[in-house]
Amino acid sequence: MARRFPFPHPFGWFQVAYPDDLEPGSATALRYWSTDLVLWRDESGEYHLQDAYCPHLGAHLGVGSKVCGSTLECPFHGWTFDGSGECVEIPYSDRVNRKARLRTYPLVVRNGMVMAWRHPDPEVTPTWEIPEIPEVGDPAWSEYHRSSYSIHTVPQEMAENGVDPAHFRYVHGTETVAEVEKYETEGPCSVMLSTQSYVTPRGTTWGRIDVYNHGPGFSKVWFSGIVDAINIAATTPIDEETTQVRFNFTVRKLDDAALTSTVADAFVAEINKQIVEDTPIWEHKVFLPVPALADTDGPIVKFRKWYSQFYAEPLATDG
Ligand code: FES
Ligand SMILES: [Fe+2]
Repeated sequence: MARRFPFPHPFGWFQVAYPDDLEPGSATALRYWSTDLVLWRDESGEYHLQDAYCPHLGAHLGVGSKVCGSTLECPFHGWTFDGSGECVEIPYSDRVNRKARLRTYPLVVRNGMVMAWRHPDPEVTPTWEIPEIPEVGDPAWSEYHRSSYSIHTVPQEMAENGVDPAHFRYVHGTETVAEVEKYETEGPCSVMLSTQSYVTPRGTTWGRIDVYNHGPGFSKVWFSGIVDAINIAATTPIDEETTQVRFNFTVRKLDDAALTSTVADAFVAEINKQIVEDTPIWEHKVFLPVPALADTDGPIVKFRKWYSQFYAEPLATDG
């Protein structure tokens, strides 16, 4: 079967875990961007993300390995590696093998997420940063309400939804199409400001949805109107056809704690409903490089041009 999308994995910052997924002194196996990985925390609590396979004889360092101080010990023959990927000890030899290195990914813990920089070329260091979102961790805002989905599509296709206001009426049942006030791109960032109607038990009201993207893997979606809520959305490619998306909702606290949590739950339920509605479209559609658009469609072409900067490898349609 022909592939439904021509894209290689994008490069950028991607969420790989939550800080509380891992205790200090432990390691776990992950798989993202078609690569087996080991995420571990040394005993001082620092996180490290590295390619999973031990350069000695190929054991998986996320399965049965041991963290000792600031190093990770392979379960097969006890070689140890530090957070930079260097082999620091071969327990049955006086000399280390300098060629035995693990690819190590730049990593930050920010906004309550563990995020890693992935580029096909290991020499390319991060070319932008993920901003700190001031509302995250602010006592005036709630703790995250988290949800996670694994969807059979690629990050670009999911992101294109954001610049496609027309689908809200047909897929999500909103009564009017969102009005895009502004869509601007600058380097790895893009901003889309829009107004959108919501159906509430007391009738239809208007609110704003303002989306700020920082690269292909991280966006802040600010909902305002009846209440203020922020969804920090993170998409991470698992393999060529599967994407993990994590939604992290925080709402500005209302006077009443029970009401705050009801509002947050309502947002989570609505976004959950939307993703359930979007999924069958995403999982069966194809990417059309030359779509037939209406003049009132959203800024799809501009979005695609912006997104194309995140591919360092050729597309399957190139050449
Ligand atoms: S395979 Fe890791 S030490 Fe031998
Ligand atoms: Fe949607």
